[in-house]
Amino acid sequence: MRDRRDLAELDKQSLLHPFTSISEHLEGGPRIMDRAQGVIIRDRDGREYIDAMAGLWCVNVGYGREEIAHAMAEQARRLPFYHSFASSSNEPAIRLAERLLRDAPGQPSVVFFANSGSEANETQVKLVWYYNNLRGKPAKKKIIARTGGYHGVTLGAASLSGLPLLHGSFDLPLPGFLHVTKPHHYREARDGESEREFSARLARELEELILREGPETVAAFVAEPVMAAGGVIPPPEGYFEAIVPVLREYDVLFIADEVVCGFGRLGTAYGSDTFALEPDLVTVAKGLTSAYFPMSAAIVSEKVWGVLRERSAPHGPFGHGHTTSAHPVGAAAALANLDILEGEKLAQRAARVGAHLQTRLRDALSGHPLVGEVRGLGLIAGVELAPSGSGRGEFDASLGVGRRLAERLLDEGLICRALGNTLAFSPPLVISEAEVDEVVDRFGRGLDRLTGELEAEGVA
Ligand SMILES: Cc1ncc(COP(=O)(O)O)c(C=O)c1O
Repeated sequence: MRDRRDLAELDKQSLLHPFTSISEHLEGGPRIMDRAQGVIIRDRDGREYIDAMAGLWCVNVGYGREEIAHAMAEQARRLPFYHSFASSSNEPAIRLAERLLRDAPGQPSVVFFANSGSEANETQVKLVWYYNNLRGKPAKKKIIARTGGYHGVTLGAASLSGLPLLHGSFDLPLPGFLHVTKPHHYREARDGESEREFSARLARELEELILREGPETVAAFVAEPVMAAGGVIPPPEGYFEAIVPVLREYDVLFIADEVVCGFGRLGTAYGSDTFALEPDLVTVAKGLTSAYFPMSAAIVSEKVWGVLRERSAPHGPFGHGHTTSAHPVGAAAALANLDILEGEKLAQRAARVGAHLQTRLRDALSGHPLVGEVRGLGLIAGVELAPSGSGRGEFDASLGVGRRLAERLLDEGLICRALGNTLAFSPPLVISEAEVDEVVDRFGRGLDRLTGELEAEGVA
C-alpha cells in the first residue's frame, strides 16, 4: 500500500500529463495501469476494466500480443537503431514501406516515417508547401480543415485541428489555416435539412471559402474519414461526393487523416475505402503498430511524389526528418502487427462485430431520456448525451456530464472516453460479441446511475 501511494505521489511530483487538468491531477492523482491482455486492462490496485477505447483508439490487435513483443525484441537485439538520413536504410523499414504501398488508398508512391500522428500531419503540411514551391506556385499555401477535427498538437497539426482547447492557450491556429463547418448533421443541420442537402451546403461553404481566399492561395484540405476525437462523427450522406469535386476543381490536394480510421476500424482496411476516397496524401499512426511502438507515416501519392522526384534536385536534400524516422524496431512492430491484422482478418471482424456494437447501442439507448444521438460505424461509436425532451438541446459544458458518466463507467469496470457530452467507444478489433454485450450492459448501468443523480440535482 505504501509503495502504491508513493508511486502516485511521485507521479504528481514529476509528470506533466497530456490533456489533463493540472490542478485536478494534483488533487486527485493518477490511475496507474499495470498490465493488459486482449481487451482487459488492470490497474495497480488490481481493478479490471474493459478498455472500450483501445487505449486512445489505437491498440487495434488488442493487448498482450506475443508476436509483436517477440518481433521488437529480435529487432532490438539485431539492430536496435540506425537512422534513415543521407540514404541510410534498414530492412524492416523498407519492407514496411513496400507493404503499406500495396493497399494504401489513392495512388501511393512513397512513404515517409515519423513517430506520431502529429508529426506525420506536420510532414503533410510541409510536403504540401514544398510541392507548391517546386511547382512555382509559392502563394498556394493555405490549408482548410474542419471545426471539430483532430489532427494532433504540434504547431501545424494543432493549427489543422479545429478544437478550441488546442488553440486558445497557444496563440493558434497559425496564419493560413482555415476551418469549415464539421459535417455533423445532428448538430449543424438546419431544421428540416436532409443529410444530402446539408452535405451540398457544406460543399458550397467550402467552395465559397476557396473563392473568397483565392484558389491560387489554397493548397490542401484535410479530413478524417470519420471524425474521431471531435465527437465520433461519420459523414452525412453524400458528403465526400460533394466535397471532392470542389477540391479537384480548384487544384486543392486532399489529405486523408487515417490515424484512427486506418487499419480496420471502420470494417475496411482504410476509412478511405469505406467512402471510396482517393486522397493525395494519407496520414497513418496509432493502428500502424497498434501503439506497441510510437510510429507514424505520411503516404505520398504519385501526383505529389512526381513533382518532388522531378523538380527537387536544384533545392538540395529534402530538409525534413526525425532522428528516429523509419525506426527499425518500430517497423518490426508494424510488420508483426500487420501480419496479425491480415492473418486474423481483423477488418472483416470489425465490420461484423462493429455491426453488433452499433445495433446493441441503438437498441439499448435510443429511447433513453438522456441520449440525444447514437452514431458510429464499424468499431467506432459515440453516444451524445442531451437533456431529456430537449430536441437538439445541449448540456452546458460546465456541468461536465460526459466526464461524470466516464467516471461512473470506471466504477462499472468500463473505459470509454468523454468528448464533451459524447462518450466514445473504439475497442480493440479483437473484441468479441459477448464482450460487446458486456460493454453495452455496463454502459447502461453507468448511464442509469448518472441519470438518477442528475434527476436528483434537477439537471435532467
Ligand atoms: C485523427 C487523428 N490525427 C492525428 C492524431 C495525432 O496523433 P498523435 O497523438 O500520435 O500525435 C490523432 C490522435 O488522436 C488523431 O485522432
